[in-house]
Amino acid sequence: MTRAYSVHGAGLGLRRDLLDPLAGARPDNIDFMEVAPENWINVGGALGKKFRKFTGQYPFVCHGLSLSIGAPAPLDEHFLLDVKQFLDQHQVRCYSEHLSYCGDDGHMYDLLPIPFTGEAVRYVAARIRRVQDILERRIAMENVSYYAAPSQQMTEIEFLTAVLEEADCDLLLDVNNIYVNSINHRYDAREFLAALPGERIAYGHIAGHYDEAADLKIDTHGADVKEDVWSLLDFAYRQFGVFPTLLERDFNIPPVDELLLEVNQIRDIQAKHSNPASEQDAALSA
Ligand SMILES: [Fe+2]
Repeated sequence: MTRAYSVHGAGLGLRRDLLDPLAGARPDNIDFMEVAPENWINVGGALGKKFRKFTGQYPFVCHGLSLSIGAPAPLDEHFLLDVKQFLDQHQVRCYSEHLSYCGDDGHMYDLLPIPFTGEAVRYVAARIRRVQDILERRIAMENVSYYAAPSQQMTEIEFLTAVLEEADCDLLLDVNNIYVNSINHRYDAREFLAALPGERIAYGHIAGHYDEAADLKIDTHGADVKEDVWSLLDFAYRQFGVFPTLLERDFNIPPVDELLLEVNQIRDIQAKHSNPASEQDAALSA
């Protein structure tokens, strides 16, 4: 499958507390970075200057927190115009959001699950189309982790693919979320992955989670990526070809050197799939 991605390789989420360590390390193994626009819109002064240095050095994507695409409240179109200006100002390559909502009103950053129903598909898809019109670009929606499925009339994969199709938007494929959901909701992660529309993948996420119990995983972004999730990423590349993939780490942040080891691990798996000879070796040794 060939697709022209707007970024490539392996990326890292840029947090404020990483600005100085990363500026000191100047890593050249990071191909792109991601920020939440909410954290940077209207940030000026010394902090804004540091940020602009990064956007001058690396390609950026944005992963929003507060669009609340599934909420009953009207879309905040003023906020979206601010986002559009931010995307243009920093030449952001892709804007993604969560396929969830943040409460009825206000901007809580808890991500709540949208009911898997046909009515919700139509409602959410219409709102995504409106967002794409305002931003004047395609956006990518992320498959989210969820711990309850209220009023469920269809499966998660049916819901996700129906929204992507009806909205005609791209997919931010979060591999860890698929793994976590597959354990918590008892389905086959590889089957789920294989049923996704690969041609819609804009980029991917990989992250660590917390093992609460054998049958309960919590998506925390606060630990190293687990082996099962690395192997699911490997499977995803085999299925769809290599797509740009970003490491998310929001809590228990290790030293930059350790974070970069995981970014390198993404690159190693990508390299394996970009080199047909090593793919063959892997197939022979399997
Ligand atoms: Fe994610």
